[in-house]
Amino acid sequence: MQNSYAAKLTCKEDEAQSLVEHINVTKDWFHQFSFTNGIVTPGRDPSAKKLHHLCLPSDLSGKSVIDIGAYEGYMSFHCEARGAERVVACDRFVWDWPESTALPNFNAIHKAVGSKVERLSSFVEDLPSATQEKFDISLFLGVLYHTKDMIGYLEAVAGVTKEVMVLETFADCLDEDGAKAALYDIRELNNDSSNFYGPNLQAIEVMLHRVGFRAWEFVNFWDVNTREQIEGKSMYRRVKNGRLVIHAYK
Ligand SMILES: C[S@@+](CC[C@H](N)C(=O)[O-])C[C@H]1O[C@@H](n2cnc3c(N)ncnc32)[C@H](O)[C@@H]1O
Repeated sequence: MQNSYAAKLTCKEDEAQSLVEHINVTKDWFHQFSFTNGIVTPGRDPSAKKLHHLCLPSDLSGKSVIDIGAYEGYMSFHCEARGAERVVACDRFVWDWPESTALPNFNAIHKAVGSKVERLSSFVEDLPSATQEKFDISLFLGVLYHTKDMIGYLEAVAGVTKEVMVLETFADCLDEDGAKAALYDIRELNNDSSNFYGPNLQAIEVMLHRVGFRAWEFVNFWDVNTREQIEGKSMYRRVKNGRLVIHAYK
């Protein structure tokens, strides 16, 4: 699938053939990487669109970045391409799953671009013991709804953030006043039993405040009411759910 959100990485010339061979044998991809030489990985995630909505600075020179829940590392490699001085890709679940292709795919991209992105294998909840470092920018994208303990996760991410956390998450109950969150039954959200909560904006703001961020800005809102559209439900003039991007400052 081609999309109009151009974000391309540069593949080393002498690595192109081995990347193509890896793609040919590894059909399962999450991230959709595009390269300037025309190679595209068949990811199911709208990665370039997501990156666009994050509103990251185009120049990350001198910045350190941790990408928490990095999966195949799309955002990590793009931060490196934007000049970040140091990038750490952190994940655990998909890297440890038996027969998961996430780590081989990450490694294939790493080799193809000649990357220096470092890998940290840690659950979010173990971050305080996994690293004592703080990073200028923490990316916390598509992970918050996977936990039973949203405040605990945000606290762990705040603990490794020096300047700003870029939060991207599914949000629900957006048409309700006050801090609210939807609680999903097994497989209710996207047929994925690891999805627990969909907080609204006020709930996210309360949590950011409680874990010590001093300020935040609502940056973007995308994938609006997608669940209802798929189910053919009419949502005329009603915004109920979607994906939020928030920049939260220490
Ligand atoms: C929906 S994917 C998002 C991937 C990527 N951040 C993005 O936005 O494209 C969720 C990721 O979070 C990771 N994840 C979920 N719970 C986690 C936890 N407790 N510790 C570390 N990673 C976790 C999964 O392994 C997976 O890579």
